[in-house]
Amino acid sequence: MKSVLSLLAFAPTALAQAQTSYVDYSTEPQPNLTPQTVATIDLSFPDCSNGPLSKTLVCDSSARPHDRAVALVALFNIEEVFNSTGNNIPAIPRLGLPPYQVWSEALHGLDRANFTHSDEYSWATSFPSPILSMAALNRTLINQIGDIISTQGRALNNVGRYGLDVYAPNINTFRHPVWGRGQETPGEDVFLASAYAYEYITGIQGGVDPEHLKLVATAKHYAGYDIENWDNHSRLGNDMNITQQDLAEYYTPQFVTAVRDARVHSVMSSYNAINGVPSSANSFLLQTLLRDSWNFVEDGYVSSDCDAVYNVFNPHEYAGNVSSAAADSIRAGTDIDCGTSYQYYLNESFAQGEISRSEIERGVIRLYSNLASLGYFDGKDSKYRNLDWSDVVKTDALNISYEAAVESIVLLKNDGTLPLSKDTSSVALIGPWANFTQGLVGNYFDAANAPYLTTPLAALQQSSLDVNYAFGTNISSHTTDDFEAAIAAAKKSDVIVFAGGIDNTVEAEGLDRMNITWPGNQLDLIKQLSQLGKPLIVLQMGGGQVDSSSLEANKNVNALVWGGYPGQSGGLALLDIITGKRAPAGRLTVTQYPAKYATQFPATDMNLRPSGDNPGQTYKWYTGKPVYEFGHGLFYTKFKVSLARSRATSNGTSFDIVKLLSRSHAGYNVAEQLPFMNYTVDVTNAGGLLSDYTAMAFVNTTAGPSPYPNKWLVGFDRLGSIKPHGSQTMSIPISLDNVARTDEFGNRIVYPGRYELALNNERSAVMSFTLTGNATTIAAWPKEEQQISPA
Ligand SMILES: *[C@@H]1O[C@H](CO)[C@@H](O)[C@H](O)[C@H]1NC(C)=O
Ligand SMILES: *[C@@H]1O[C@H](CO)[C@@H](O)[C@H](O)[C@H]1NC(C)=O
Ligand SMILES: *[C@@H]1O[C@H](CO)[C@@H](O)[C@H](O)[C@H]1NC(C)=O
Ligand SMILES: *[C@@H]1O[C@H](CO)[C@@H](O)[C@H](O)[C@H]1NC(C)=O
Ligand SMILES: *[C@@H]1O[C@H](CO)[C@@H](O)[C@H](O)[C@H]1NC(C)=O
Ligand SMILES: *[C@@H]1O[C@H](CO)[C@@H](O)[C@H](O)[C@H]1NC(C)=O
Ligand SMILES: *[C@@H]1O[C@H](CO)[C@@H](O)[C@H](O)[C@H]1NC(C)=O
Ligand SMILES: *[C@@H]1O[C@H](CO)[C@@H](O)[C@H](O)[C@H]1NC(C)=O
Ligand SMILES: *[C@@H]1O[C@H](CO)[C@@H](O)[C@H](O)[C@H]1NC(C)=O
Ligand SMILES: *[C@@H]1O[C@H](CO)[C@@H](O)[C@H](O)[C@H]1NC(C)=O
Ligand SMILES: *[C@@H]1O[C@H](CO)[C@@H](O)[C@H](O)[C@H]1NC(C)=O
Ligand SMILES: *[C@@H]1O[C@H](CO)[C@@H](O)[C@H](O)[C@H]1NC(C)=O
Repeated sequence: MKSVLSLLAFAPTALAQAQTSYVDYSTEPQPNLTPQTVATIDLSFPDCSNGPLSKTLVCDSSARPHDRAVALVALFNIEEVFNSTGNNIPAIPRLGLPPYQVWSEALHGLDRANFTHSDEYSWATSFPSPILSMAALNRTLINQIGDIISTQGRALNNVGRYGLDVYAPNINTFRHPVWGRGQETPGEDVFLASAYAYEYITGIQGGVDPEHLKLVATAKHYAGYDIENWDNHSRLGNDMNITQQDLAEYYTPQFVTAVRDARVHSVMSSYNAINGVPSSANSFLLQTLLRDSWNFVEDGYVSSDCDAVYNVFNPHEYAGNVSSAAADSIRAGTDIDCGTSYQYYLNESFAQGEISRSEIERGVIRLYSNLASLGYFDGKDSKYRNLDWSDVVKTDALNISYEAAVESIVLLKNDGTLPLSKDTSSVALIGPWANFTQGLVGNYFDAANAPYLTTPLAALQQSSLDVNYAFGTNISSHTTDDFEAAIAAAKKSDVIVFAGGIDNTVEAEGLDRMNITWPGNQLDLIKQLSQLGKPLIVLQMGGGQVDSSSLEANKNVNALVWGGYPGQSGGLALLDIITGKRAPAGRLTVTQYPAKYATQFPATDMNLRPSGDNPGQTYKWYTGKPVYEFGHGLFYTKFKVSLARSRATSNGTSFDIVKLLSRSHAGYNVAEQLPFMNYTVDVTNAGGLLSDYTAMAFVNTTAGPSPYPNKWLVGFDRLGSIKPHGSQTMSIPISLDNVARTDEFGNRIVYPGRYELALNNERSAVMSFTLTGNATTIAAWPKEEQQISPA
């Protein structure tokens, strides 16, 4: 989404090239354009005290937001309506309406904000990237991060430095390990993505559809978007072939949660097409599913990804020109164009009778209806208008960025070397991530806007340990020039820590990997370091996984830690894990595959189930042997887990499907969400160190038709600070929605038969239950009507 917006239609030659080799225009410089890094317009509030609007319904805070928006847009002439369909909306001075910027970013902190250059309003908290934060398996944490970001965003909005709509969260599932934007997501599993969506959206918006919205969140990218440019298949032109089964089971349930349960107010249509129809012009996605089936909030709006309306014409060629692409997109349900195609071309579509004023107005009314709910027209006494710089400082001081990193870091391998012995007095810190300030913030956050950035080196320098630092090698470098200094630093130290992996030069927006091996010669250096006879700890950094099987196999690599993009306090969090000041309890939310996985079938193959060269995708279907499994994560202590005795549901209980579905389900949107049992376990710390405990609950069954998934996630949780010999209870609610499967037409069906619940990959505390009755459809998937390209 860092597309530079196009003002000019591409020349025919550019279009011809686009057909043969897909070029990602969004990352290429284009004529007459200024790259937009900040909101680029001075934001302020409409004049509701004296201006022309003050006496109208628009400024009447007791009126319904929808009616206020209708009243406003009725005052616009047709050019003003066109002008208000883009992300960058010019002022209408005659109405006392200021300009507005729809495009703000909030992936893991504020981005595209107009920060000052000193003191007040000069920074915002940089949290870890979502791929790391989710690994803490702590729902409250995700909600709190969303809430803090929203507080900080509102504070900046109050002084005209940030918008009220944010293009976050990114909830596409991290299907294939080469995806450059997997770092932005909560991982490969759709249940996790749904949980993340719920917590983040309600954190950002200030609750479940509150009367006064705090900010508007955007669930993106809808749908089937998880390739940037793999093998030169540009995201802008990709046409993904997705079966109705996979669409219903894997690519959309997180959007159902976002829309139906978390009541998100905005959804972003993605660049790609699905089965021939670009998302922005896809009425099956935008009308049939989003509005007719999932009950999108009244006046929820759809924004295109930036320039995706233009892409409906080029490179998709779904429409024959930009004005048709604009008309098709409006009619399918894309309300706002992040870009300028609507603003510049709807006059053409309108003049040619392709689209009416009321069709165009619909989206503008939705946008302003949301702004009314946000208090945009309500003056200084409205909710959240009191938030200011002191609230940014206060929320940052809670240190939740550090907490998120320290709770999430995953211990992949440990022979007992970690936590470091108290006798350790010197550490050799080596590698491209050792002092990588920029790396800490990943993407969608400008390092210059963090209050501080603590790298592993900075954290070590502030500790009581002596540090011998050496760069060693770069992420993708092949020169060995700095090896010698690294070996020398290692030789004079008690312990060696190598900090490397990948970064945004290797995985990024617009950039997928072609392989998942460690880049450059980092593994060569690690190998040499491992031959020195000293304890060696490797920090594997970056969002996507690399194949660390050689480190797993090397006995002289004593410990392996995954640290993602850990945010402003990432270095301190890593140090505190290494020294044992804090104990690790994160778990991988993605599979670490062996390198051959990335080359044995095309990353554009969207089929989850194994077939042909495709060995099955994600832990749910993968038939090969991973290096580290989804859900893998070690502790410093030893936990004993057993089924809780004398809990309501005993092992082996039967439930009647029809009876379960006929219970009253107050508090839940649909009957299948109401839990029918708790999977309850007692957790005892049988080791010697204080530690948090995390768990994932999986179900497996052979009920219903084959092929059967290996297992799938139905719950997760985190328990805090369990002392040696201490015990706590973890209770994971199980609903029919959790155990339903999806048939080939996309229907969600509960099948009678035997099911097993098990905790984590080692399958602790196995509990079985049986569902009786007939197979029952709990959610029917609508039929996709053939949408013929009008081009
Ligand atoms: C950013 O804020 C400054 C005031 O500090 C203002 O002068 C400037 O126009 C704003 N820039 C943008 C791009 O909004
Ligand atoms: C529409 O926006 C453009 C660009 O900001 C501006 O020049 C023009 O005056 C606007 N039109 C109307 C009718 O406000
Ligand atoms: C992608 O296309 C570029 C330019 O056409 C070419 O140089 C490059 O080798 C291609 N990459 C792959 C992975 O095919
Ligand atoms: C999707 O299917 C069409 C028609 O079978 C084929 O031409 C196209 O290459 C497929 N797309 C992908 C990404 O595999
Ligand atoms: C755009 O395409 C539509 C549909 O083919 C056509 O009716 C219209 O005249 C075209 N507009 C322009 C400006 O070429
Ligand atoms: C570590 O990075 C900081 C910030 O970029 C820099 O000031 C410092 O000199 C670096 N330290 C070393 C030892 O390179
Ligand atoms: C992996 O891909 C990178 C570029 O994406 C390339 O430079 C490197 O040579 C590849 N490595 C292997 C082992 O194929
Ligand atoms: C699960 O446990 C909670 C309390 O921990 C209880 O309120 C709830 O009723 C239980 N649910 C079922 C289905 O037993
Ligand atoms: C669940 O998986 C385990 C391990 O693969 C297997 O032994 C068990 O039979 C399966 N249970 C059911 C109900 O399919
Ligand atoms: C989960 O996160 C919340 C919010 O940051 C925190 O208060 C709580 O202690 C965390 N829970 C555990 C078990 O660590
Ligand atoms: C629960 O019952 C199943 C058999 O139905 C058995 O395999 C499992 O070990 C039992 N769990 C416990 C904790 O006893
Ligand atoms: C299952 O369905 C059949 C036919 O639809 C019906 O006769 C039977 O009573 C049902 N059984 C149960 C247990 O609901």
